[in-house]
Amino acid sequence: MSSSVSIKAIILAGLLFLAFSAARSATPSAGPLPPTGLRLEYLVDPLGVDVRWPRFFWTPRFEGRGQKQTAYQILVSAAAACGQGDVWDNGKTASPDFTQVVYGGPALQSGRTYYWKVRAWDKDGLDGPWSPVARFDTGLLSPSDWKGFWIGGGNQLRKEFAVPGRVSRARAYVCGLGYHELRVNGRKAGRGVLDPGWTTFDKRALYVTYDITPLLQDGANAVGVLLGQGWFKNRALLVQINIELAGGGTMSLVSDKTWQAADGPITMDSVYDGETYDACRETPGWDRPGFAGDGWKAASDGPGPKGLLSAQMMPAIQVLDTIVPFKMSNPQPGVYVFDMGQNLSGWARLRVSGPRGTAVRLRFAEMLYDTGMINQENLRGARVEDVYILKGEGEEVYEPRFTYHGYRFVELTGFPGVPTAETVRGRVVHSGVAQTGSFACAKPVLNAIQRIVTWGQKTNLHGVPTDCDQRDERQGWMGDAQGTAEEAIMNFDMAAFYTNFLRDIRDIQDEKGQITDTVPHIWGSRPADPAWGTAYPLIAWYMYRYYGDTRILSEHYDGLKAYVEFLKSKAEQGLVQYSYYGDWVAVDKTPGSLVSSFYYYYDVRVLADVARILKKDADAKIYAALGDDIKKAFNAAYFDPKTGNYANGSQTANTLPLFLDLAPPAERGAAWGNLFDNITYKNASHLTTGIIGTKYIMEVLNRQGNADLAYDIACQTTYPSWGYMIENGATTLWELWQKREGPSMNSHNHPMFGSVGSWLYKTLAGINLDERAAGFAKLRIAPAMVRDLMFAAGSIESVRGRIVSTWKRTPKSVTLEVEIPCGSEAEIVIPKFNLINVVLKEGGTSIWAAGKPAGAAAAGVLSIEEKDAEKLVLIKAGSGRYVFELSGE
Ligand code: BGC
Repeated sequence: MSSSVSIKAIILAGLLFLAFSAARSATPSAGPLPPTGLRLEYLVDPLGVDVRWPRFFWTPRFEGRGQKQTAYQILVSAAAACGQGDVWDNGKTASPDFTQVVYGGPALQSGRTYYWKVRAWDKDGLDGPWSPVARFDTGLLSPSDWKGFWIGGGNQLRKEFAVPGRVSRARAYVCGLGYHELRVNGRKAGRGVLDPGWTTFDKRALYVTYDITPLLQDGANAVGVLLGQGWFKNRALLVQINIELAGGGTMSLVSDKTWQAADGPITMDSVYDGETYDACRETPGWDRPGFAGDGWKAASDGPGPKGLLSAQMMPAIQVLDTIVPFKMSNPQPGVYVFDMGQNLSGWARLRVSGPRGTAVRLRFAEMLYDTGMINQENLRGARVEDVYILKGEGEEVYEPRFTYHGYRFVELTGFPGVPTAETVRGRVVHSGVAQTGSFACAKPVLNAIQRIVTWGQKTNLHGVPTDCDQRDERQGWMGDAQGTAEEAIMNFDMAAFYTNFLRDIRDIQDEKGQITDTVPHIWGSRPADPAWGTAYPLIAWYMYRYYGDTRILSEHYDGLKAYVEFLKSKAEQGLVQYSYYGDWVAVDKTPGSLVSSFYYYYDVRVLADVARILKKDADAKIYAALGDDIKKAFNAAYFDPKTGNYANGSQTANTLPLFLDLAPPAERGAAWGNLFDNITYKNASHLTTGIIGTKYIMEVLNRQGNADLAYDIACQTTYPSWGYMIENGATTLWELWQKREGPSMNSHNHPMFGSVGSWLYKTLAGINLDERAAGFAKLRIAPAMVRDLMFAAGSIESVRGRIVSTWKRTPKSVTLEVEIPCGSEAEIVIPKFNLINVVLKEGGTSIWAAGKPAGAAAAGVLSIEEKDAEKLVLIKAGSGRYVFELSGE
């Protein structure tokens, strides 16, 4: 592991601690502050919302602790100033809700801009100032709003048109498949790339809404669209542009056969293989008015998709970072290799000048051979090569549009002359989900794990959660998606992304309730392996648990039920035994039927819970009873009373039933004993699990009171472990525990072992959901202060606001700083270790001594007690920031 990573992490951790303390001491101002964080359907000022009854989200900001919102008022207006609720004024509404608040005004109109603001009343009934004004745009809500036709006939399409006056508002609604780039008067519209997101196009295709107001001008205008094949493997375009004029009046422009088409400089584009761009074929001015159009022909009918058009309501894929390579080498004459120092998804930007017709080749790889040449063996069938053919006009800058690569190294050949430090840049490209979590601690290897997990995770968000980003695959493998979902939610704002992905899953569900291994379905089977199909119920469930999203549950209830009924139709003797992948890529095998039956039970239980939450009482009963039957069948089939093992006693086989409390108490003890021995003695505190067992084993160890052992596992640097990957140069997670670099299946950016990421937050930072309430309305801060770990810090921007847990300890004290969001209530657990004569202070003042309250009660603290044979102090507290310090002898 590189020492700079660890030093940086420790410095960061220290800074976090200091920043936290400094922020705390800021002088409070009086009265409620304006709410912040205004979002609609989880998105900031979204364009193109096609949810007819969208939900509002905000963060109330009240001074002091134990705060709650008691009422709110929302104004929705058609006017930018949003002075009054001319569209909707809900009046002062008594309610603690500030997430998932459903719009309740008159039906929203298609293609309009709405402005909104909110104010909130605190626990004492004090009203706060209005928030800043937020906005949203509705998309085209009815199919008849689309007046254009699907067109094609070239990978560049254009249209000139006149605008009679100044434009006050203009929107372009564009579905350009596989990928498109919209240009207006010579400029690119929007910040997205590789748009629209990949869906099952025959069920649902996404359109992107652009605000093109600032790009249009009075008089002559032109729009141009570049089309790539993407996952559609073809090209088709549908455009609806609606313009409002400052002087009154409207006009629109749609795609039809009056558009012109031509094949432009992109002569080849493929997600896997790369792009070839022949700059000699450029037709300058094609996306501006006044272009001669020589050689362009009329557009033809486009091979439009069969699916419905749906607004893209998730963060677009974007270029999110630019990396300066830290090394350039020259392993063979004419061959230059750039090292980005980080495995990433995206492409390279090239700067070059040279003679017209020179072809410069960029090839990408995750690894190098000892010779210094790039090793592309593990990319299998993906060619991964971008070619740029120079036009020979001074400095030329190129980056591809319709492909992406997963790589760390770029090989440059055919370069005219000798490249310099300015020649190549790495461009990091993925879905632009906000990073909402942070974790750091005093153990360098764990900080390095956090880093490879988050890099691996974000670079595998490309409209759908992918398995990998480099080889001829990049699929929405559902097992990978479900296994990493909690980690992703801890680190990133996944709400809108998963809302879309759950629709993708529903789109591929058939009338038998079956779903598929990959979504959209290209690789793998229908029906899905149950450990893969479970992504449907589990991601829906996590959306409810982490974001408090009950709408997802009702929208998908029928789909989830159909899926569970499908599994039930496959059950034999109460168990679902078919399995393709089992505990995938494990060191020690586990019977696939056990894994499948575990998920059958899990899915049924989730469905029973969902039914209960949605008040479908009859179903809740039926599925709870079905769960009980599966549990019995599971224990009868897999538990061996002679050995005390489930099935073959692999780590995964004993972990899964422990995780879901499938095992009756006697069997639980035996299975746990065997699991402990297997990890500790047989494997010297290493895992032998695949992606399934790995997801649950760390949490089982916690629950069994053995966070220390989980920590030992997480800190390993020998095979098999995360630390082993890091020691061997991983900058993103590997697909396998083994180090492989040949032509076999061994991606070096595969997030599926990243479930350990949520363990860092839950166990070491100690930030946990509480079973009693969804969306962190109640939470539990219970950091495990394991072994030699003296410091850890985690924070999450949750749907209800920021949650922080930062602790440090000395042999005689523990300091825990926490932040609880408005309206939430936390149970805070501080271990006493073996200290006696314990005193607990908050903010420097004693609040607990000699086993009972002492001094003045701290504001916001609801109760304090010593629990678990006095091994810990349990504090209940309302919202606010607290610094607890426990000390003793
Ligand atoms: C993918 C995995 C996936 C698996 C199914 C692989 O090719 O890369 O991540 O889950 O197949 O077994």
